[in-house]
Amino acid sequence: MDIKQIKKDFPLLENNKITYLDSGATTQKPQQVIKAIEKFYKKTNANPHRGAYSLSIEATEAYENTRTKIAKFINAKHKEEIIFCKNASEALNLIAYSYGLDNLKEGEEVVLSIMEHHSNLVPWQYVTKKTQSNLKYMYIDENYEITEEEIKTKITEKTKIVGISHISNVLGTINNVKEIIKYAHKKGAIVVLDVSQSIPHLKIDVQELDADFVVFSGHKMLAPLGIGVLYGKREILNNMKPFLMGGDMIEYVYEQDTTYAPLPNKFEAGTQNVEGVIGLGAAIDYINNIGYDTIEEIEKELVKYARQELSKLDFLEMYMTPNEENHSAVISFNINGVHPHDVSSVLDSQGICIRSGNHCAQPLLRFLGFDSTCRASFYFYNTKDDVDTLIIGLQKVYDMFKKYIKK
Ligand code: ALA
Repeated sequence: MDIKQIKKDFPLLENNKITYLDSGATTQKPQQVIKAIEKFYKKTNANPHRGAYSLSIEATEAYENTRTKIAKFINAKHKEEIIFCKNASEALNLIAYSYGLDNLKEGEEVVLSIMEHHSNLVPWQYVTKKTQSNLKYMYIDENYEITEEEIKTKITEKTKIVGISHISNVLGTINNVKEIIKYAHKKGAIVVLDVSQSIPHLKIDVQELDADFVVFSGHKMLAPLGIGVLYGKREILNNMKPFLMGGDMIEYVYEQDTTYAPLPNKFEAGTQNVEGVIGLGAAIDYINNIGYDTIEEIEKELVKYARQELSKLDFLEMYMTPNEENHSAVISFNINGVHPHDVSSVLDSQGICIRSGNHCAQPLLRFLGFDSTCRASFYFYNTKDDVDTLIIGLQKVYDMFKKYIKK
């Protein structure tokens, strides 16, 4: 496959002279996704589940067929285990409120990794305080990884919920989630797995992983903004109360009481983001078409090159595991003495887009001893030329600031 041809599928990358290295925040969208949304509005738009006329039935089919497609994509056993949400954050709030509040008791524990994005951390602070349970963290070692010893020390008989990201959005560390899930289950805990940073890059098989809940956002995997997915094991979802109440999540509504609809509708109150769902379906088709094997092959070479070339810049401090096989397409770094926002602004003046700041992971950064980093994140549409452009850009930043940097 000619990697340079892939970029042609992405109008924004084609039409702008930019080097886009912020796919960890959101990916660019291929024309196939944009066209699928346009087609939906031109031919199928109506409110699913609401009308008995053919257009509404077609919209319902388009919406529900995508649910089936997603179930197949992540190998869920049942299509009703797929719940559409606004994003991974909403999915995690749903779990925290509808599962956490009802299942945690005083003195029990929720264990998270210190790498969690605020979205898999702040809701658990709220829920543990409300239920008088305790919140504990698995910390990382000098390689930015969670050791087996740390897992076994922190997950105990008291642990009822474990929250873990498959891949850290700051460090790119790929966590050994299969082992964590196995160990958590042995201790009687359920696992909430955030695959937002991994599903764009790696095949996710929920049955093989055996996680109880899995969440992700569509926009980090080529789909539109504002659509996310919650996967939950059917027996667990069936026993949970709804999170949001309103239209379409009910069975019968009386003046004082309501019975709820079965899965998945119980968790999908109100008119849904149907264009987002359609776009997500098209994004999945696009990924399937390229194939995860090809995506992994492209990114492996790209990240290896980026690690190698960035390491040659002696003014750069990098935060990544030395174990290449445990490292995904995210590289965080700092130029000592230059604020990441300044680095990012000077790179922006050269048309290079990276993220700078705390990456919604303040506890992790505080643990590491600094308050912000620069972050370049790659996707399969990036090339080695993009890495070279970043290197040249960083050299310019350093040349600009070096006289102010205290030795
Ligand atoms: N969670 C996204 C990121 O890491 C926004 O940039």
